[in-house]
Amino acid sequence: MKNDDQYHDAIELFISQKEIGDKVKELAEILNKEYENQSVLMIGVLQGGFMFFADLIRCLTFDITLDFIQASSYGSNKTSSGEVKIEGVMKHAPSEKRVILVDDIIDTGNTFYQLKKWYSEKNIFDIKTIALVDKPERREVDFEVDYALFQIPDKFIVGYGLDYKGKYRQLPYIGVLK
Ligand code: IMP
Ligand code: MG
Repeated sequence: MKNDDQYHDAIELFISQKEIGDKVKELAEILNKEYENQSVLMIGVLQGGFMFFADLIRCLTFDITLDFIQASSYGSNKTSSGEVKIEGVMKHAPSEKRVILVDDIIDTGNTFYQLKKWYSEKNIFDIKTIALVDKPERREVDFEVDYALFQIPDKFIVGYGLDYKGKYRQLPYIGVLK
């Protein structure tokens, strides 16, 4: 069983597993009320959103269809390229459904902005966005996320799905590289 000390040499704990778990449950309660008796297409944004998405959907009690989409704006570095590459196919017809996009973090805002635009062009009008973490100081486009569990200052974080050069995604907590 891995604990919060894993990788302690390279990483400083920033948001613990318990804090994340509590916030995920809080958000799930809000969504369960808001979407009771409704059908929703939940879309996990890969790669970083996978862990948050998996934890969140397990707490949801309304009717859900799942899909994934891959969006990448970061190369292998800590700064965004500004361009967002969207890959993945819509396997389900989202037209009759509400769509909720779930990602790990909103930083410059380019990813959510482009994804929302992409879905709007497909005539989906009810699109909500959820991010685990929001870094509002870093915004480059005018975009407000509908739900963010944590607002943080301009720090580069890893863990709980978030990576640095493909590493540290498996950590059950969020940390900062030392
Ligand atoms: P945005 O398009 O600038 O909002 O960036 C969103 C994407 O950049 C996220 O989905 C992450 O994949 C990546 N990203 C932004 N900030 C961080 C960070 O602090 N750590 C790891 N990845 C990050
Ligand atoms: Mg991402």
